[in-house]
Amino acid sequence: MIDFHSHFLPGIDDGSDSISLSLTMLDAWCNQGIDTVCATPHFYAERNNPERFIRRREEAYNALREYMARYTPSNGGQWPDIRLGSEVHFFDGISRFEGLHELCLEGTNLLLLEMPFRTWTSRMIDEVSVIYSTTGLMPVAAHIERYLDQPRKLVKEFLDLDIFFQSNAEFFLESGTSRKAIKMLKKGVITFWGSDAHNMDRRPVNLGPALRVISKSLGEDFVGKLTNRQYDIIEQFSNDFF
Ligand SMILES: [Fe+2]
Repeated sequence: MIDFHSHFLPGIDDGSDSISLSLTMLDAWCNQGIDTVCATPHFYAERNNPERFIRRREEAYNALREYMARYTPSNGGQWPDIRLGSEVHFFDGISRFEGLHELCLEGTNLLLLEMPFRTWTSRMIDEVSVIYSTTGLMPVAAHIERYLDQPRKLVKEFLDLDIFFQSNAEFFLESGTSRKAIKMLKKGVITFWGSDAHNMDRRPVNLGPALRVISKSLGEDFVGKLTNRQYDIIEQFSNDFF
């Protein structure tokens, strides 16, 4: 099982603020049967640059790895595989931004893209639509459920784009949205799921419970098949030729 979206690397963004919390979060993933976790710290182009971001991400990851080597998960199993990536906040000119490829999920051309929360314009959608043709990178739009109240026409245009969409676990877990989440998953709109975990209280590691809700509605077979598809997509967009 893959958690495609999380903020557990210590001290790099508004996610985990300590190695101990990062280890607790990793332990929760282990106990929930999640074996691959994508580390996707926030990237804001207006206050960061790819080089600095990658250096800080590497430092945070290396510090955490030392402790992962010293301890084992509480269930006696293995720590999840960690794939380094980022969550890039949309900005005007993103499709022409140099260094965007360095922010992709490592070894792939998949770019986790966070859309703005302000009201969308058709120009924004147009810019997302050309990211692939101009950069060769494939956007994965983060937590699509957060944008469903944007202007209807633009949401439709956005969902019609030939990109991938990710949803957060809470979309499946909250009673007011769960039915819609399952419907969007069943229709094939949502391809990736993630906890978007930042800590262990307000924004916890909760993909396991969400997968149980999905299994209950659509069957374990569905979860297994979509998981395989997620790994296939990561493989398909792999840029690791050697
Ligand atoms: Fe996030």
